[in-house]
Amino acid sequence: MKRTTANLAIDLLAAAFFLGMLATGYILYFTLPPGSNRTLALWHGSRHQWGQVHFWLSTGFLAILLVHLALHWKWIVVVLAQRFGLERKVEGGWILGSGVLAFLVVASLAGLFAWWTEMSVQEREPLHRLVGEPLDGKDGLTAKEAIQPTAGVADKIDFWKEVYPIIEKACLRCHGPRRGYGDFRADRKEDYFGAPGKQAFVIPGQSHQSSLIAIVTGQRPDMAMARSHLLPDREVAVLRAWIDAGAPWPEKEPVK
Ligand code: HEC
Repeated sequence: MKRTTANLAIDLLAAAFFLGMLATGYILYFTLPPGSNRTLALWHGSRHQWGQVHFWLSTGFLAILLVHLALHWKWIVVVLAQRFGLERKVEGGWILGSGVLAFLVVASLAGLFAWWTEMSVQEREPLHRLVGEPLDGKDGLTAKEAIQPTAGVADKIDFWKEVYPIIEKACLRCHGPRRGYGDFRADRKEDYFGAPGKQAFVIPGQSHQSSLIAIVTGQRPDMAMARSHLLPDREVAVLRAWIDAGAPWPEKEPVK
């Protein structure tokens, strides 16, 4: 390939990557805004996945820019040398050497940056504040609402239709027939109400005293995998309403 053809190809590629960055940036800003990761998808991709596409497009763009600079390196060195009156000293070795040096400087800056972010990263807020955040800015309960007494809704709660599906979705993969962390089976009634010699996680009528609620609202940050136990406020509210209604657990799941 001739040099000009290579340059043209590189520039076209750079333009394509740049447009891709712009498009995914638009998607992340407008179509799938922050907080929409769990609720929205575009062409089967969540916000999180589009964020990754955006990152790799930027990385590719950077790589193409570096190739572009490398192809023009001789020109850059000569122009700079002229600018500082050194053109008579410039020879082949100079060009290669300064190229390697520039690359090393850029690479160590990138490494320093990665190290700096690694050292500076911090936990933003205690776990229970995360739960207080509205789910999607629209339909989430605030932390305050989620702790209000739930009497009134309580008698409308249907265990198998509303409560159990939450547990099934959020807990069974770690506390089910296949895996039973902490000697707790989320699909066994007696494990909630305290079999002889076992702790009760649910105290009927008293959601405030029930450690099940403490666990799913992040008030037990000390326990193993605390984050895997957090539930969105709406689901917490359902569990609370169920407990405050006396935590009825009818014998069998009705045939659907
Ligand atoms: C990703 C895996 C995972 C998920 C999902 C999960 N748990 Fe756990 N759970 C654990 C682990 C690990 C422990 C700690 C076991 C231990 O300390 O021995 C635990 C402990 C517990 C305990 C015992 C706490 C204690 O004080 O002994 C309860 C109750 C519990 N989980 C309930 C739940 C409920 C309810 C859900 C669903 C909202 C859930 N878990 C989801 C992994 C999980």
